[in-house]
Amino acid sequence: MPVKSDQSTELAVQWITSFDVGEEILRHKSFREVTFKGLIPLVGQVIVTLEGPAHRERRLIGSKLFASLRLKAAEDSFIADFTRRVVAKAAAQNRVDLVPLSYSLMAQTAGRLIGLDGLSSEDTAAEATYLLSALVSGTQAHQPGRPSYTRRAARDELRNRFIDPAIARRRNILALHQAGRLSTGDLPSDLITLLLLHTTQAERKWDTRQIAGEVAFYAVAAIDTTASLAPHLFHHLYEYSRTNPAQPLALANPYFIRLAAAEALRLHPAIPTIFRQATGPVKLKNGLTFETGQTAGIYIKETNRDPAVFGHDPDQFKPGRIIQAKTYRAGLSFGGGSHLCLGRELAVGTPEQAAFDSGNSGTELFGVAAILVQSLFEHNARPDPAHPIPELSPYARDVYHSYPVIFG
Ligand code: HEM
Repeated sequence: MPVKSDQSTELAVQWITSFDVGEEILRHKSFREVTFKGLIPLVGQVIVTLEGPAHRERRLIGSKLFASLRLKAAEDSFIADFTRRVVAKAAAQNRVDLVPLSYSLMAQTAGRLIGLDGLSSEDTAAEATYLLSALVSGTQAHQPGRPSYTRRAARDELRNRFIDPAIARRRNILALHQAGRLSTGDLPSDLITLLLLHTTQAERKWDTRQIAGEVAFYAVAAIDTTASLAPHLFHHLYEYSRTNPAQPLALANPYFIRLAAAEALRLHPAIPTIFRQATGPVKLKNGLTFETGQTAGIYIKETNRDPAVFGHDPDQFKPGRIIQAKTYRAGLSFGGGSHLCLGRELAVGTPEQAAFDSGNSGTELFGVAAILVQSLFEHNARPDPAHPIPELSPYARDVYHSYPVIFG
């Protein structure tokens, strides 16, 4: 959803392919986030488009959400249990298309985390996923057999069908809590509840439209990104084990699959370009300069294959790759600096070094994409020889539209 600012219309975008330069820009105080600028007229200002104190306020709420996810994971492994049930059901039918399976699973998981109760069945999850892609791409997202939506119409339908009823339901639950008829422990632990609790205490109250905008952004940020990773991860691991039969892969080991998920995401970043705009004149460490208003287009697929950081074979899928200290296994796929993705643990799991940090309550997450693929291998899933998967075109979006697998 890029980008053009009033001031930058005559200034050329500077394209960045070096990891270090990309990371420096993402951390730099004199660049503002503009990748998601196109969403503002539709959903208002949301966490990713805000800066300064307003951004920190929203980021704190998001951090609470993931802290509670980690705490809950210690007692209740909903994500793992649900994923295993979904895969077992598919395996019982002997074949499944991994792409819709992955989207449905992710929509239902993210729906629960966000508080979108309406996404709890395969049909409604598919409908909401379709509306979310129409919110981002408008009529280009059209699928045969479904209505065609402009971006605005998709937003309105999303709100009517899914977001506003979920907010209304939680307002009622909170009213019961305030009346002393529900204990704090009975409150749902999801994003909508956290946003409503926060706004009752905040100086400036948020209206339903603002909360709905934040909820829509979380759903956009979570579902398509994570769902599109699982087929890539499955494909790489399957091909790797087929072409290296002498080195059996630890496909039942969640720690190994988690490393592999980050490696697959490095090669296939779900958000391929991140844009920043200079808020003043900037000179970077390597001497590159930006004028006020000029845009940096960080080409994530290239930064993630920078040999200076990822070694002489950056195009290869190597789950055990040795990475340099202070870099990320998934490269810049989750961005960096103040807008570093909040949902990365839900997508690909807790990074190795974070497992030793005191702040994360000791519970490690393995990520939906990793658990899904591990579970597929447990059921001996393999590409369906009757429906060979076409090679992805280097000119198209780096996602599979279909990935049929069979079991056994
Ligand atoms: C493979 C999966 C994912 C990828 C590749 C991804 C990628 C990204 C990237 C690149 C950004 C930064 C955008 C920028 O700086 O312009 C971001 C931000 C964000 N992501 Fe993710 N994301 C993923 C999954 C998720 C999930 C599962 C959630 C939530 C459940 C989530 C929530 C967010 C939020 C809230 C932000 C904004 C953070 C802020 O502005 O402070 N993401 N994500």
